[in-house]
Amino acid sequence: MKSDSSIQVPDELDLNAIPAHVAFIMDGNGRWAKKRLMNRAKGHEQGVQTVEEVVSACRDLGIGVLTLYAFSTENWARPKVEVKALMHLLKRFLRTKTEEIRKKDIRLNIMGQIERLPDDVRKEAEQAMAVTQKNSAMILNLALSYGAREEITRAVQQIAAKIKSGILEPKEITDKTVSDHLYTAGMPDPDLIIRTSAEFRLSNFLMWQAAYSELAFTPTLWPDFTRQEFYQILIDYQQRDRRFGKV
Ligand code: IPE
Ligand code: IPE
Ligand code: MG
Repeated sequence: MKSDSSIQVPDELDLNAIPAHVAFIMDGNGRWAKKRLMNRAKGHEQGVQTVEEVVSACRDLGIGVLTLYAFSTENWARPKVEVKALMHLLKRFLRTKTEEIRKKDIRLNIMGQIERLPDDVRKEAEQAMAVTQKNSAMILNLALSYGAREEITRAVQQIAAKIKSGILEPKEITDKTVSDHLYTAGMPDPDLIIRTSAEFRLSNFLMWQAAYSELAFTPTLWPDFTRQEFYQILIDYQQRDRRFGKV
């Protein structure tokens, strides 16, 4: 996996205060390609390079959970050719990068409607999860056919089924019950959510988990996003006062 380790971690970045969970809304691939008069698929292809760089950077910094929003439940409504190109890239990424992910002691976790993925992609994804399942240095959540509303709806269905079968009483339902039925069960909520490409919205991403996340927005298009800029965002994040409703 491409890792530009020649780039030094800036002194201002406090390595003892690294967030436990960072999430990215990887946006702007299409505009990156359009600016270059290329088709959108080229932008996605270039975006994969940034994925590799960000995975390496997070692993190097000791971030415990990295979540990447790669394909939303709404993205199925894009033109068929684009969906096909994205699925193809995804399959290629899983096929060619799983070994490196495994060696880096990273556990790959697909979050989303895995059953909606084309058979070949789903198989590649299941294989990648299986071979990395014992890894423990970092969790890499790949959000695929992911939508926060679907995630919460699914959690409600599972909880309702438990109530119906008598395993659970309605008054026993707590915040934790809900969290435990999300794709991120057992993981810390994201400390920091970063969105590229100058869009200021969540687009159905981690709506429950983002309750107290710090948000960072950059105009940089995802294929242009660099390790240096990531370090800078982390430095800014470390300056913030996270009050969690207290004084
Ligand atoms: C993000 O880039 C990747 C996905 C949503 C799959 P976009 O494809 O949304 O790029 P823009 O927003 O059109 O530039
Ligand atoms: C959000 O980007 C989804 C992903 C990055 C996978 P979109 O490009 O789909 O979001 P909108 O449509 O601009 O809200
Ligand atoms: Mg977009």
